[in-house]
Amino acid sequence: MTVHPVKPKHRPDKISLWAYFRAFRRDILSAQPERLYHAWMAEFKTPFFRSVMINQPELVKTVLKDRPKDFPKSDSIGEGLRPLLGQSVFLTNGDIWERQRRIIDPAFEGGRLRDVYPHMHSAAQTLVARLASGRHEVEEIASFAAADVIFRTLFSIPIDTRIAQDVFHEFRRYQRAQPLLNLGALIPLPSWMPRFHKRDTKSSARRIRDLIATLTQDRAKAIAAGTAPDDLATKIMTTLDPETGQGFEWQEMVDQVAIFFLAGHETSASALAWSLYLMAAFPEWQDRIANEAVHLDDGFAGVSKLRATRAVFRETLRMYPPVPMMVREATQCERFRDRDVPRKTQVVISPWHLHRHDRLWDNPDGFDPARWDTENGKQCQRDAYIPFSAGPRVCPGAGFAMIEGVMLLASVLREFRVSISDADTPVPVAHLTVRAKNGIWLTFTPR
Ligand code: HEM
Repeated sequence: MTVHPVKPKHRPDKISLWAYFRAFRRDILSAQPERLYHAWMAEFKTPFFRSVMINQPELVKTVLKDRPKDFPKSDSIGEGLRPLLGQSVFLTNGDIWERQRRIIDPAFEGGRLRDVYPHMHSAAQTLVARLASGRHEVEEIASFAAADVIFRTLFSIPIDTRIAQDVFHEFRRYQRAQPLLNLGALIPLPSWMPRFHKRDTKSSARRIRDLIATLTQDRAKAIAAGTAPDDLATKIMTTLDPETGQGFEWQEMVDQVAIFFLAGHETSASALAWSLYLMAAFPEWQDRIANEAVHLDDGFAGVSKLRATRAVFRETLRMYPPVPMMVREATQCERFRDRDVPRKTQVVISPWHLHRHDRLWDNPDGFDPARWDTENGKQCQRDAYIPFSAGPRVCPGAGFAMIEGVMLLASVLREFRVSISDADTPVPVAHLTVRAKNGIWLTFTPR
């Protein structure tokens, strides 16, 4: 019998709007009907907004790659995130967004990744040193490790520094106080509906921003004094926009650091935790990863030799894409698959459904890291695989995340075997990223 890794339940095809909202609030994955794994497109009309989910590679390409300016992020979608993220690159559009990307992108180029690699390596060593044999919840462990990577690469400080600890814990509080983040972040609510920026969410956002402001202000001073370390923050804060000759002021940098932290640690943590779950479920792959992990001793160049680890990590991002859905807004009337799509329609792109589409992928619900060497796997990787999105708004941290994830996974499995009991089978749910309802509990045994 073929064993498939866990997949969320789906809802009945027809339900009331109210039931949909309730389900959506609990979890955006199980709130969807099964037909989305088979459909090329699905429409959803409510009294407040109209949305269309596109699941056909050509349509996804139109929206993300060919005509991204006609499908910007909607202003109302950022509402739930704005107190924390301000004018960060994740939320802006148009000229502001273009300028921000011109300044940010050079920091994530290959050469720079080589420079920050030693920081990632130190974070991996810290992670492994903190692990002990026994049963542990890996999402928590992965969050801590991913936050450590971000602090070290961005600001050259490990997570056990006081200010890094404060930011980390304040972010967790923020997310607990903002349970409607998913709803507010994905759906444009009508203007009369009460907003959910609860007082404690707002003050939590303010505290996070104050802490980050201290970091960026100190860094601006160190840059001026010529004493700044050569890390991602210094690179971003000293890069001048080639078109205007201007860089970020430290205030603007606060918004960007907030998104680097949020986008860069929640997502990577989710991917690492699910990859460890998959390894526990498919132990034959653990040995392959442990065997090739000797290449970790070869530094940055060694990461490219971790072929099995990369195939596993890529397969994890297919099956449990940390960002399960993305939303854009149609700025003009469109015609998709012979149907009218009016202006202001919310266009939902779902890596979750596209990555498991049964008309595109061989064995869509099966775990098969070897698929990337097959014709179908290669074709789907080109046309139907978007864990980092695609086009000009593609995740600037994609290269960074692929090195980080592969390196952390190989580092853990080099030292430990992981296993899972049936009682601990995780249930995937999505709020901001794909997480397990009660965490992912695995048993670690030293190799
Ligand atoms: C496995 C890890 C990661 C995954 C799966 C991931 C995925 C994504 C996706 C899907 C988007 C597009 C969202 C949208 O358009 O609505 C995005 C955007 C973004 N990501 Fe990542 N990401 C990861 C890691 C990182 C890291 C490590 C960083 C930075 C250190 C980062 C920074 C960003 C930023 C700044 C954006 C906004 C880009 C823009 O809108 O122009 N991400 N990411």
